[in-house]
Amino acid sequence: MLTNKKILLCVTGGIAVYKAVALVSRLSQAGAAVKVVMTESATEFVRPLSFQVMSRNDVYTDTFDEKDSSVIAHIDLADWADLIIVAPATANVIGKLANGIADDMVTTLLLAATAPVWIAPAMNVHMYEHSAVLRNIDRLARDGYEFIEPSEGFLACGYVGRGRLEEPEKITELAAAFFTEQPQRPLAGKKVVVTAGPTLERIDPVRYISNFSSGKMGYAMAEAAVALGADVVLITGPVALDPPEGAAVVRVESAAEMLEAVLAQYDDADYVVKSAAVADYRPQTVHPNKMKKKEGNSVLELERTADILKTLGDRKTHQCLIGFAAETDDAITYGKGKLASKNLDWIIVNDVTDPSGGFGSDSNVVTLLSKDGSETPFPAMEKRALAKELLTAVAAQGSDAQ
Ligand code: CTP
Repeated sequence: MLTNKKILLCVTGGIAVYKAVALVSRLSQAGAAVKVVMTESATEFVRPLSFQVMSRNDVYTDTFDEKDSSVIAHIDLADWADLIIVAPATANVIGKLANGIADDMVTTLLLAATAPVWIAPAMNVHMYEHSAVLRNIDRLARDGYEFIEPSEGFLACGYVGRGRLEEPEKITELAAAFFTEQPQRPLAGKKVVVTAGPTLERIDPVRYISNFSSGKMGYAMAEAAVALGADVVLITGPVALDPPEGAAVVRVESAAEMLEAVLAQYDDADYVVKSAAVADYRPQTVHPNKMKKKEGNSVLELERTADILKTLGDRKTHQCLIGFAAETDDAITYGKGKLASKNLDWIIVNDVTDPSGGFGSDSNVVTLLSKDGSETPFPAMEKRALAKELLTAVAAQGSDAQ
């Protein structure tokens, strides 16, 4: 499966280092040439000799230990590899790489690498959920690093949760698939317009109406569309996220601004992904000055905003329209209703009360409904991985423009 493939394994210091020995064995059995680089802390768990025996190659632990004077080891190893796997990847190495720090053999080599780098985190569940770690993972994913998500289960620290290094067999399978499957770019040459985040409807200069949308699903859809080869325009309401590399970004505030921005991109769009949580109502009057409080209750008159997606559905010529339905009950029935009434091709339905998904969460549980009547449920998945699967399924059907 992996004959003639050169895999460089970077091993960093966590209890899962022992599984990295099995990974070297699996990769070698599958035919790969494997070389191993370890951090000093990794050598506290397993001695380099184990990796040397398994890989039949020298093991590198020190940037300044040049085993061959005709080359510079960290550059030579980086250039040698067809694929680099960091397993187990500690919170520390993820943090360093996300910030461009190169203070040991592993991190120096990673900065010199041009081959694809896969990162397989393994750590305590609370560390994996720490905002700093999540931020660093997010940064690296946007920089183009691939992640092999840790699985859930009993952790060495005694906790049960997500943080276990993916099994060596599975990582080997992924590597084999990577070399045998061509990169999938089914959206190459297609223009994909993605809307994301909430809209914000002003009441007066200091107040507004909005909703809890984090924009994470929409940003993940835009990132996935870029990865699948599309030309992406991301039209985004106010969110606290960095846009994915490679997408053109249009920032808007209100539903009216979003409508205008989407219509400006609509004629030559092949796909429109409407992930934004658009406000259905806005204040009838936007007060020019800060409203003063008065005695007793107050009533805020609201008027309807335009239904952007319905407007697009009514004006559809060749575009493939993908809507979202955020529901709290009877999700599939309401989803089907919206698919038909807005003249959509697809709708992604999610129950926002599901604890594994919804607003603000990094994961989501959805069902993809097509206008042809198909219903595809997806298990709880990270929004980024889910977005790729959803768009791959949609792209497989093609847009009418094809
Ligand atoms: N949508 C839109 N413009 C609006 C409201 C919603 O484009 N003014 C889009 C959303 O981006 C989403 C889809 O319509 O893709 C469904 O949004 P949702 O809020 O679930 O439904 P609504 O149509 O607003 O219906 P309801 O509030 O009755 O659930």
